[in-house]
Order: sequence, then C-alpha cells, then structure tokens
Amino acid sequence: MTGKISIKKDFEEVCNSSNSINKIVVARGNPEAKLMIIGEAPGAKEEELGEPFVGRSGKLLDKLLQNAGIDINQDVYFCNVVKCRPPKNRRPTKTEIQENLPWLYQQIRLVNPIVIVLVGATALEAILKVKSRISIIRGNWIDWEGRLVMPVFHPSYLLRNPSKEKGTPMSFTKSDFSKIKEKIDFL
Ligand code: URA
Repeated sequence: MTGKISIKKDFEEVCNSSNSINKIVVARGNPEAKLMIIGEAPGAKEEELGEPFVGRSGKLLDKLLQNAGIDINQDVYFCNVVKCRPPKNRRPTKTEIQENLPWLYQQIRLVNPIVIVLVGATALEAILKVKSRISIIRGNWIDWEGRLVMPVFHPSYLLRNPSKEKGTPMSFTKSDFSKIKEKIDFL
C-alpha cells in the first residue's frame, strides 16, 4: 500500500513532539481487507512490537475472530484511533483523538474497507460522533459514509467480564462476530 510509508513517517513527527512517546503503531493485517477493525490506542505490548492488538486483548480479539471463521491475516486490517501509546495507558484525550483523526481517515480511504468494526467507546465516539453505551449500540449495523459500521465491546472489557453464559457481553460479542463474518462473506 503506497500511503503506508508516508503515514508512518509523518506520524514519527507527531509522536516525537510528545516527550513520553517513542514508537508509533500504524496497523497489522491485510491492507486490502474488506474488514477494518478500529481500536482505541496501542498499549505496552503494541508499542514494543509496533503492531496493534498484540497484547492480551488482541489475543482475545484474534480468538473471537477466528472462532467466527474470520482469517486474521487475510480478512482483517487492524488499526487504532490513536497511533501512539498514551502515557500510563490512560484513555486518549480529546485533543489526541482530534490530532490523530486525519490519519485514521487517510487509512480508511487507502484501505477502503466495506465493513468497519468499532472496538470500544473511543472508536465509537471518534468515528460516529455519538456518546452511547456500547451495551446499547453494539451488534447494530450503522451506515457511515457508504460503509457498514458495527460497534462491539472492547476485548479488555471482555477480559474483565469473561463469563460465556447466555446474555453476557462475551456471548453477545460472539454473535456480533458471527454477523460480521456473514456480512463479509455476503459482500
Ligand atoms: N487496545 C486497543 O484499543 N488497541 C490496541 O492496539 C491494543 C489494545
């Protein structure tokens, strides 16, 4: 993907302007995938390895995708709203989100996914500009600029709520990923 290199280079300048941040995390997966997964921001493991969703939550996310029959190398492009790890893993500030959004939009334009999954509240608010609880909005298809968008629970929330019983966040998320698999197969 031609734009990838320049996104990375430009981001080095953004990240270097903040003294506590040293590594940018742009993406992993297939830049030609129909499905883009957008999370919040890299954590420690992501910063260390330079790829999104490679820590504990990422491993759970991979498992949920694979269990739904989605190939994590071929079918998915993973990225985050914010490209640099916020100090002490705090939530990104409104300013950080605003500064990073043009780069996320550029990624969306370049990858051109048909389906976007918004993982957690930060991604939901950044893209759809709505403040809604994930538990209310998750699992619904929303039309956004000609693309199909679905919000889902963040895997870090699922790690704290691991019950797989019927009616739990984990069981809803499994059914959300099955819907997503059906959709990418159909489109
Ligand atoms: N959480 C996110 O939202 N993104 C990552 O890359 C890792 C954890």
